Amino acid sequence: MPRLRGRAPLTIILMIIFTLLVIIYHILSNEVDDISSLKINSHLKIEDVYPLSDLTESPRNIARRQQLEAQIMENLKNNGRNIESDENKYGKAFSDSTPLFKGHKIVHLDLKGAPPVIGYYKHLLPLLKKLGATGILIEYEDMFPFKEHISIISAGNCYSKADIETIQKLAEENDLIVIPLIQTFGHLEFVLKLDEYKDYREVFRYPQVLCPSYNKTLILLHKMIDQVVEAHPNIKYLHIGADEVYQIGECSRCFEVMDKKQWGKRQLFLDHVTRVAKYIKEKYPKLSILMWDDEFREILPQEILEKGLNKLVEPVVWKYTTDPGASLNDLLWDNYALVWPAVWIATAFKGATAPDRYYTDIAYHLENHQRWLEIIVKYSHKINFKGAILTGWQRYDHFSVLCELLPAAIPSLAVNLAVLRSSELNTFPNEIPRQITDALQCESTISLNIPEPQYGWTKCVYQGVLVYTATLRLYSLSQEISKMEEENTFKGWMKEYNLKYAFSSPSHVEHAVADLDNFKMELLDIEKVVRSAMDGIYDNYTIQEWIETFMVPLNDKVTSLWEAKEKILKKNAWPRRPLTKIEL
Ligand SMILES: *[C@@H]1O[C@H](CO)[C@@H](O)[C@H](O)[C@H]1NC(C)=O
Ligand SMILES: *[C@@H]1O[C@H](CO)[C@@H](O)[C@H](O)[C@H]1NC(C)=O
Repeated sequence: MPRLRGRAPLTIILMIIFTLLVIIYHILSNEVDDISSLKINSHLKIEDVYPLSDLTESPRNIARRQQLEAQIMENLKNNGRNIESDENKYGKAFSDSTPLFKGHKIVHLDLKGAPPVIGYYKHLLPLLKKLGATGILIEYEDMFPFKEHISIISAGNCYSKADIETIQKLAEENDLIVIPLIQTFGHLEFVLKLDEYKDYREVFRYPQVLCPSYNKTLILLHKMIDQVVEAHPNIKYLHIGADEVYQIGECSRCFEVMDKKQWGKRQLFLDHVTRVAKYIKEKYPKLSILMWDDEFREILPQEILEKGLNKLVEPVVWKYTTDPGASLNDLLWDNYALVWPAVWIATAFKGATAPDRYYTDIAYHLENHQRWLEIIVKYSHKINFKGAILTGWQRYDHFSVLCELLPAAIPSLAVNLAVLRSSELNTFPNEIPRQITDALQCESTISLNIPEPQYGWTKCVYQGVLVYTATLRLYSLSQEISKMEEENTFKGWMKEYNLKYAFSSPSHVEHAVADLDNFKMELLDIEKVVRSAMDGIYDNYTIQEWIETFMVPLNDKVTSLWEAKEKILKKNAWPRRPLTKIEL
């Protein structure tokens, strides 16, 4: 560097930066064994420069990692033997002593995406029982076999009447109560999207919410309710949905009603819900009616009491975040205590962290359940918490893509059911109770971390576990592909511009995409595993949709990179600049 001679400070800074880059490069390529030979400037330690990076392994990080590993090894050992002492330890928190929460634990089966084939329920329902569930909430959406002139609102692959009988029989055999859910206000996309039901929409352009003032609306809802109740002769509860009523009081029919009765949107909402609930109560007096609570949160207690809704429905207070108490505060519980003799709560064990997520972040959902348990404990003196619904969303709504599949979220469900059964606050995540690992036949602990290291820690044997491991493999692969795209050789020599003109440096290209063949093979293998793992759990429509949503885009990317690389590496002479000839 002759031209820099004499500019000492700059030279030193440049050298330090260069040295650091070399070190980081070596660490990233797992060649850490020989760092000392690089003669690092001894007073400039790596952790001074990157104190927060895990990759550079500051002493704090090393200690934390070692602690975590020790804990995991301990768990592994404990799972292999010491069964008796484990049972003593966990038995205290789980079976013998009184759980903090004694209400129902209902698992939500969201059939608006990836409805399982009926055969899967034979495995699923006994497992739910073993994990401590007391019932299932079935959100059929278009999977219910509606009949007569409303049969067109059912999906082409909906369940048969016999299928529904089978599910109920299996539920009964496993002591699980069944609560069907029918949306009666918002989230009726599956009905309102149809040409035949266009005029039922509150807002013509948005097929989401029913118009409560249309004179055919209640006729339709009564039909749906009657058919669903008729198909479930033994139920005690019916859930009428009614969450996220995004559009209300916006059509001319509603304007007219609001004008005539001097109502605001809240009265319009309360009136519709009351009419639906009264119909059910009068026709089926033994049924208790549940509904989502979100629309009540902004409504004054008096208004609900005036309508008599407190005697008609039981609200299900839902919050799926890691801090449910932030918005469900003292004021809300004080108001609810004035109105409702009993409330239900709803948590989430999957399908609530991103609409296109296919792997479940167990730690997130664990936090959601732990915070909910705290809320239950805190407010139990004034609120009767009758039950908890562990929701497992399969789509955010009728139109969105699939999120996490049920078999991929069974470990999350198991852990979260255990939280709701525990007799102490915050016994997780240090201890995963033996009952869970036994029910799932795990030979090791359940990893709460995403991605799982080496995708190997959670080794369980339940129906569908291969769906779980395949999704983790796919996640791990997609991480590796992203990492490849962040490499300098990729960013400098495999850019769109390089590909467009097939103009790049072969040695850098070879380095940048060295793993492409492996990625392609791994993708093919994952797809094969997914197809066979889902066989017997899902129909071909679901399998195909999942692969098209989560695997095809990745496969397309890898394939087009592979083709571009081939084209570039075929060259042995390159044109003079400027580049003008596009290589197609
Ligand atoms: C709804 O109202 C329209 C007129 O506004 C009327 O023609 C129709 O018969 C009514 N339908 C029902 C089912 O009441
Ligand atoms: C799904 O597709 C596979 C092959 O593509 C076929 O063998 C199988 O019978 C199909 N299953 C159903 C339920 O249609």
